[in-house]
Amino acid sequence: MELAGGRIVPWRLEAPAFRPDLDRLESIVNDRTKVLLLNTPHNPTGTVLDRAELEAVARIAIERDLLVVTDEVYEHLVFDGRLHEPIAALPGMWDRTVSISSAGKTFSVTGWKIGWATGPAALVDRVKGVKQYLSFASGTPFQYGIAAALASGREYYEDYLTSYAVRRDLLAEGLASLGFTVYEPQGTYFITTSAAPLGYEDGMAFCLALPEKCGVVAVPTQVFYADPEPRPEVRFTFCKPRAVLEEGLERLRKNL
Ligand SMILES: Cc1ncc(COP(=O)(O)O)c(C=O)c1O
Repeated sequence: MELAGGRIVPWRLEAPAFRPDLDRLESIVNDRTKVLLLNTPHNPTGTVLDRAELEAVARIAIERDLLVVTDEVYEHLVFDGRLHEPIAALPGMWDRTVSISSAGKTFSVTGWKIGWATGPAALVDRVKGVKQYLSFASGTPFQYGIAAALASGREYYEDYLTSYAVRRDLLAEGLASLGFTVYEPQGTYFITTSAAPLGYEDGMAFCLALPEKCGVVAVPTQVFYADPEPRPEVRFTFCKPRAVLEEGLERLRKNL
C-alpha cells in the first residue's frame, strides 16, 4: 500500500469482543479511499468475519466503488462448525477483489513462503507487477510440492482442523487455569489473552520478560496496531506438538 503512495487508515479490532465496528468503517471511508484491506480469519485475534459483516463490507465497497484485498491465509482453520466465507464470492465482489492465501498455513510449511493471489486477471496482473520488485520468484521446487499438496482430499482438511481444535482447547484451558483472560479464537492457530489479571498491564514488558523468566515466548498484540500504545493483550500460538504445548504450560505454571 505504501509502495503505491497510499496512506493506511486503521480499522481496529478491540478487546474483549474483537468484532469490526461497521459504523466506524462507514465513517473512515471517504472520497480518497481506494482499497479496503481485510484479514479473516484474523491474526492475532482469531476473529472470523460472519456473513452479515462481510455483506456490510461488500455493500460499502460496491457503493463507493472500492477494491478489496483480502488476506485469507487461515481459510481452512475455522473452528466449531463455522464456515470461512470468501468475500470474493458475494454478489458483485469478484470483479473488485484480490484474495490472498498461503500454503504455509494449510500445509504447515510457513518457511516455504508459497502463496497465491486470485481474482480478475487485470487485478492479479498488478500483483505480479509488484511481486517482480519484491522477491521476483518463489522457490520453484517448493511450488511443485505445493501443487501436489493442493490435490489433497477432504480427509486431509478434516484431520488438519481436528488436530488444531484439540490443541486450541488444550492451550486455552491451560492458559485460563493460570489466570489469563482467554479470548477463544474462532479461527487461526493463535490465542489472544489478557495478562492483566496476572498483574501485567503492559503486554510488551510481559513478553520481554517471559523468555528469561519462563523459557516461553509470546507476542504482545500492540505490535499489530498502527499506533502501538501499551495493551495487556498477549498472543500465544498452538501450532506446535501437544508435548511442546504441555511443556510450555508447565513452565508458565512453575515460573510465572
Ligand atoms: C494474516 C497473515 N497473512 C499472511 C501471512 C504470511 O504467510 P506466509 O508466511 O505463508 O507467507 C501470515 C503469516 O504469519 C499471516 O498471519
